[in-house]
Parts: sequence; C-alpha cells; structure tokens
Amino acid sequence: MKKGVFITLEGPDGSGKSTIIKLVEGYLSEKGIDYISTREPGGINIAEQIRNVILDKSNTAMDGRCEALLYAASRRQHLAERVIPALKEGKVVICDRFVDSSLAYQGYARGLGIDEVMQINEFAIEGYMPDFTLYLDVEPEVGLERIAKNKDREVNRLDLEKIDFHKRVREGYFILLEKYSNRIRKVDANQPIEKVFDSIKKILNDEIEL
Ligand code: TMP
Repeated sequence: MKKGVFITLEGPDGSGKSTIIKLVEGYLSEKGIDYISTREPGGINIAEQIRNVILDKSNTAMDGRCEALLYAASRRQHLAERVIPALKEGKVVICDRFVDSSLAYQGYARGLGIDEVMQINEFAIEGYMPDFTLYLDVEPEVGLERIAKNKDREVNRLDLEKIDFHKRVREGYFILLEKYSNRIRKVDANQPIEKVFDSIKKILNDEIEL
C-alpha cells in the first residue's frame, strides 16, 4: 500500500461528495489504512473564519478576484495546518475540494481565467498537488434538485447562483479533465450511490494498491 497519498474529491454542488466521503472513510477503516478525511476549511480556525466571509449570503458585493484570493488564503492555511503534517506522517489524506474547485468555479464559471486563478493558487499550494482526484460528475439539474431535497444542508452564497452558473462550473471541470487527464478520474455520479461507490472503490484499489 502507498503511503502519504493526497486524494481530492471534486464535483459540482449536489454531486454527492459528502455521502461518498463517508463511504470511503468506512472502506479505508475496514482496510486498516491510516488516513485523515478533511475538507476545506476543515475546522481550521483561521480558514473557517475566511470561509464565513466568502459564503456569507449578505456579501453580495464581493468581487470575483477577492473571492478567488480568499479561497486561496483559506486553502493555504488548511494545507499548512492539516494536510502537509498528515502527509509527512505518511497518512492517506482525503480532502473534499481543493484547487480544482477554484479553477472550475472562479477561473471558469466566474470568468477570471483558469490560468490566472492557477497562478494565485501556486503561491498558496507551493507545489502540493493531489496524487489523484476523483471528479464526481453530475448534471446541474440533478445536483440542484439533490440540494433542494437535503434539508440539513446549509444554503450558501454560491448555491444561490442561477443554473447557468452551475452549468459553467461543470464545463469548467470538463476542461480540467482534459488539462489534467493523468490526475483527474471522472466518475458518473448521476447513477445510484452504490454504483458510484463501486467505481470509486476500483479506483482506490488501483491507485493506492489496497
Ligand atoms: P462545499 O459545499 O463543497 O463545502 O463548498 C462550498 C461552496 O464553495 C461550493 O459552492 C463550491 C465553492 N467553492 C469555490 O467556489 N471555490 C473553491 O475554491 C472552493 C473550495 C469551493
């Protein structure tokens, strides 16, 4: 089994990442893998405070570049405080969202430019890219319907965006799938959850040699 592996999960809103991550956690525990499961901002106090500013529904005046810089700042803190130490201890790190989210949401959907947003993130991540990324692909209509049905989930400023924004997010991920074809593995998340999880287990077995 490989050690110190950095795995990220990505997808449009409502792609089922949270449910899948719980299943992945159970699977890794069963296999006796030493892992941490985290998400940006991952309960890191400074990162959490930045996230509250980003997602506050009253911050409608927030400029797109400001949003991108805040995500990068929050990412940096979480990476430094949680991800890098765990990788150094040889743990597998499962992280719900990372730089690809900024590239798809801010870079493409907000129109700031994928390369431009990558540039500001390079300063934040100092070369720490995921070993591989699971991209859960879902039609925007399906994703938004799932969110509407999930009463426990907080509705944030980005959820309030129109369907066209969510369609662009998905197009952004498609560009990333081509650009980083060696790193990003696409999983069809329109299927029932058991099927999605089966595909993910195969990828995990293959990538971290379980
Ligand atoms: P979450 O619902 O997965 O916690 O993510 C919160 C929202 O923030 C979601 O709509 C995706 C968005 N987001 C970005 O726009 N850029 C980013 O870099 C990250 C990490 C999330």
